[in-house]
Amino acid sequence: AFVHRHRFIVKETPYTRLCSTKNILTVNGQFPGPVLYANTGDTLVVDVYNQGSQNITIHWHGVKQPRYPWSDGPEFITQCPIRPGTKFSQKIKLSDEEGTLWWHAHSDWSRATVNGALVIRPANKTQYPFPKPNAEIPIILGEWWKSDVQEVVDEFLASGGDVNISDAYLINGQPGDLYPCSRNGTYKVTVDYGKTYLLRMVNAVMNNQMFFSVANHQITVVGSDAAYLKPFKTDYVIISPGQTIDLLLEANQPLNHYYMASRAYSSNPGIGYDNTTTTAILQYRGNYTPSSPPSLPNHLPNHNDTNAFASFRGKFLFLANKEHPMNVPLNVTINLLFTFSVNTLPCANESCLGPNGDKFAASVNNISFVMPQIDILEAYYKQINGIYGDDFPSVPPLKFNYTGDSLPVEFQRVDRKTEVHVLEYGSTVEIVLQGTNLLGGVDHPIHLHGYSFYVVGWGFGNFDKEKDPLNYNVVDPPLQNTIAIPRNGWAAIRFTANNPGVWFMHCHFERHISWGMDMAFIVKDGKSLDERLLPPPPDMPNC
Ligand code: C2O
Ligand code: CU
Repeated sequence: AFVHRHRFIVKETPYTRLCSTKNILTVNGQFPGPVLYANTGDTLVVDVYNQGSQNITIHWHGVKQPRYPWSDGPEFITQCPIRPGTKFSQKIKLSDEEGTLWWHAHSDWSRATVNGALVIRPANKTQYPFPKPNAEIPIILGEWWKSDVQEVVDEFLASGGDVNISDAYLINGQPGDLYPCSRNGTYKVTVDYGKTYLLRMVNAVMNNQMFFSVANHQITVVGSDAAYLKPFKTDYVIISPGQTIDLLLEANQPLNHYYMASRAYSSNPGIGYDNTTTTAILQYRGNYTPSSPPSLPNHLPNHNDTNAFASFRGKFLFLANKEHPMNVPLNVTINLLFTFSVNTLPCANESCLGPNGDKFAASVNNISFVMPQIDILEAYYKQINGIYGDDFPSVPPLKFNYTGDSLPVEFQRVDRKTEVHVLEYGSTVEIVLQGTNLLGGVDHPIHLHGYSFYVVGWGFGNFDKEKDPLNYNVVDPPLQNTIAIPRNGWAAIRFTANNPGVWFMHCHFERHISWGMDMAFIVKDGKSLDERLLPPPPDMPNC
């Protein structure tokens, strides 16, 4: 396996979008950031220089980093921030990941502009489980705020209310033809008739699942979160923040140009989304007069189309062949039930914009996570007391009808603390992720660091522990690192706790992270030497 070395210079760079110019935080001046390429099993060494004016960390989303959480990146979970003017060398060890992943800043909301794709191709002498595409096209869905993102966050947290929505969605950094002053920059890709393209899609949007569709073309889904799926054809996809999807697009339509378009999905009408549509252009090479304007996809679902979400999701099945065998644990030793809720906290001043003069909070099992002062990994490794507690509950402390209509107000109040859940090495774990109807409920894309997990079941309403497991798929459940729990629904995931370390789990909606919808696992060392944490590198940033 190969070692790839990269240099990431994090710095402010002026960018013009939507008729005005501002400085944004970038890597190497690029927005979206550089696409990194590797093959399965390779290692990347990335020297991150912070030349900006705010703290930063970089996370390698979906890379398991076996026994080496030191380079995982979430601020105050596995490392202290890289301070302005300092540098940190991260070692990213790929194992069995194959397909598209991505990297992003993991400190406040800096991932809004500090993100990029990580493309992992099959290792030498191995192949794609589908005919080799003629070319690859990264498609990064993103977002743009006219104001400074850090100011948006500060105002949001100070007000106690919900976040201001962004001013545009982006495809590869561009808002597209339907937004003011954007036409010249619209992302355009040229294709040749008869060829097949692998679209490597990342949803780097902060707070929304996104629909995506290409006018006149069907697309074939072949993978997600760097694991292969049984291929299926579709007119549109829905992708949650944090998720990645690999798609094949055959250029088999009449020579012309066509819009690719994306818009937000809102599981709870009225909750934070922008109703605009971003577009990019797919243009066939050749001598012809293109239609004007390009046609928009007529299969792009509407903002509130929950059926479109559910039917797309239902098609995800792990490839499960000889080269890519399925390893779902059949005998579960640890059963966990986690509720994900939006809650309230008493507000210190009278000006809070949250419900009934309170401010918003969010929780897992009714604990709203508080970021510690020293990262949990360091505190665990060096046995520093007083940084975190290890009492994160296995089941919610309050039993109630999670998705019922009128929920008693006392369930809305949460504890604020830093708790981890400890897992013995080798435990086989099932977690039922249960959404709740507190404050109406929304969907929650839940991401676990350090692992991929099998999604053995999901549904709407309350999880029924007698009936629902009877319908689990333990033959070819999709292998994911991020799973969107439907609004007032649930998802059941399974994994074997064979990667020691400290691993963050959180909703990938940024506003929910800020409100505390986070928790962490500590997976203990195993008995043999190769089941233990590796030592930290000498240049870990200090707190
Ligand atoms: Cu994509 Cu904890 O992050
Ligand atoms: Cu959420």
